[in-house]
Parts: sequence; C-alpha cells; structure tokens
Amino acid sequence: MTDLTTRYLGHSLANPLVVSSSPITRDLDLVRTAEDNGAAAFVMHSLFEEQIEAESLDLHHHLEAGTESYAEATTYLPDMRAYNTGPDGYLEQLRKVKAAVSVPVFASLNGTSVGGWVRYARLVQEAGADGVELNVYDIPTDPAATAQHIEDGLMDLVRAVRAEITVPLAVKLSPFYTAPVNLLARLHDAGAAAAVLFNRFYQPDLNIDDLDVVPHLKLSHSEELLTRLHWVGVAYGRVSLDLAVTGGVHTARDGIKCIMAGATGVMLTSALIRHGVGHLNQILTDLRRWMAEKEYTSVGQMRGALSLQKVPDPSAFERGNYMRVLRQGVGPSW
Ligand SMILES: Cc1cc2nc3c(=O)[nH]c(=O)nc-3n(C[C@H](O)[C@H](O)[C@H](O)COP(=O)(O)O)c2cc1C
Repeated sequence: MTDLTTRYLGHSLANPLVVSSSPITRDLDLVRTAEDNGAAAFVMHSLFEEQIEAESLDLHHHLEAGTESYAEATTYLPDMRAYNTGPDGYLEQLRKVKAAVSVPVFASLNGTSVGGWVRYARLVQEAGADGVELNVYDIPTDPAATAQHIEDGLMDLVRAVRAEITVPLAVKLSPFYTAPVNLLARLHDAGAAAAVLFNRFYQPDLNIDDLDVVPHLKLSHSEELLTRLHWVGVAYGRVSLDLAVTGGVHTARDGIKCIMAGATGVMLTSALIRHGVGHLNQILTDLRRWMAEKEYTSVGQMRGALSLQKVPDPSAFERGNYMRVLRQGVGPSW
C-alpha cells in the first residue's frame, strides 16, 4: 500500500495535493467534488487588506459625512464584489466551506502592511480556519525603499498576524527577493510555519494603441515550475518551514518533482481550472502508479531526494548549472 500522507501547516494530510487559493472555494459543489477526487486541503480565495480597510472607511464615512478620505482611498481600487463578498461574506463562505468538507481549510489574507485589517486573522480563525495563508503580493515602486526596509516590514506584518492567531501561519511569497533562503529563515523566526513558493507575477501588458496598461491573467504551464523547484530544492533542510509549491503543477510528474525538491504541499489552481477538479484524481492515480513502478512506498521516502542537500552534484543548483547550460548552447529542444 503506497503511503501518500504528508504534514503541511500543522496538519496531517492524506496526500500532498492542496487546492490553492482561487475562486474554486466560492463554489461549494466544486469544493465537495474536489474533496471527492482527493483534494487533501483547501486554501480559500483571498480577502484583501484593501477591502477590509475600505469597509472600515465606509463605516467611518457614514459616521462622519463630509470627509474626503473615503472617496480618495477607493478611487483606484477595483470593485472586488464579483470576486468575493467582502469581509463579512468571506467569513460566512469560510464557515460554509468548513462545513462542506472534512479536510483542512486555510483562510487566505492578502496584504502588505500592518494595520487594523490584521484583526481578520483572528476572525477567520474564529470562523473555523485550520490555518492562515498570508499572501504578501507587494510591488515596491518607491526608489527610497530599500530591500532591508521592505523585508523588515514583512517581518512586522508576519509578527502582527501571528499575534492574532493560534492556528499555523503560512506566507505566500513572490520570487523576487535578494536573499530568499535568509528571508525564509527570518519568516520562521517571525512565527511562520510554512512558506508557499511562489506567487505568479501578473505583470500588466502595455496596449500601445490605446496607450493603456492592461491587466493580464493567463493560466500557468509546467515550465513555470522550474523557479519553484530551484528554490524549494535550495531551501529544503536549511529552513525549519514546511514548503509548498504553487505555480506550474499540472501533472503527477510535476508533483513528484515538487516532493523530490523538498515540498510537503503541492498546490494547484490552473490545472483544475483547465481540466476540472476531477484532474486531482488522475494525478493521484498517476502518482501511485509511478511510485509503484519505482518501488517507493511513501512520499516521505521521496521528499528532498533531489534537493541541494542530497544531490551528488550541488553545482547543479548553483553557478555550475548556469555555466553548463551556456556551454551546451542551443540544443534539440529549441
Ligand atoms: C482565477 C485565479 C484567481 C486566483 N485568486 C487568488 C487569490 O485570491 N489569492 C491568492 O493568493 N492566489 C490566487 N490565485 C493564485 C493561485 O493560488 C496560484 O498561486 C497560481 O495560480 C499559481 O498556481 P497554478 O500554476 O497552479 O495556477 C489565483 C489564480 C487564479 C488563476
């Protein structure tokens, strides 16, 4: 019998496949079908700092009519009502998702700065969240903001969220940090139990005819996995965090690579949007078959086998790989 169990974010999961934060958790039928097909945990779609703060401002505005601050603060923000139902509706949906499934459900808070909105960490815990994923999708545009300043701010935020909750905390990061492994170690010291690598960076496209900067969302492909595999492989065994991969997991082979790099959680969204949540079942079937062929009896046996710590040639993760690739030049895969 193949043992697919793993531990992620303080919970024992039946297998490593986690439905990552996405609109899937807005639909209870989809959530139930995903669980029936093997989803071992869910991350809720995000509740955004801006939404929480806007609602507080709205209340403030009604209490103190005449202030200009509300209009100013909300002018440039998208109306998120089509994505989630605002802070109260979010808590309600979280309760419903929790009631619909028996696997862990993690809330997702999305923000970048310490503020009153952080109290929602406690509220999502009270609503039943088994953990909190904090997505710190930040776009630093101020030339005066140093890397040190930005990372210190991140640690303050993680400590502030941590102080609100007793359930475990994960931090979902972008790949753009100067010293990612140091950052991960600091996140652990600040109270995080897991890191989710990496946010996809949704760069806007430039419309040169209308002179506009336009939002741009495309589903991922497996090639995007490589950045994640690299950094999970480098961090595995060097930081005391559970590591989850998000971005580019589409097949069982992708998932196996994540585990062999060192991940305990393997997250999916694009593949489930493209093929339906039944795709989880296919991945699990293929995973079991592959493990049986290779005579692995547990995912624990596979974990980290291709990490920097374990590979016979560590230069594959370092500058040696870069030099090797350049020397090979254009190959048959072009
Ligand atoms: C339509 C859509 C909505 C998403 N919403 C969120 C969100 O609310 N919060 C979040 O942290 N990530 C969100 N994501 C990002 C996914 O959780 C995931 O990290 C990303 O899509 C990369 O994984 P994938 O390659 O499996 O799609 C969203 C992705 C998509 C496609």
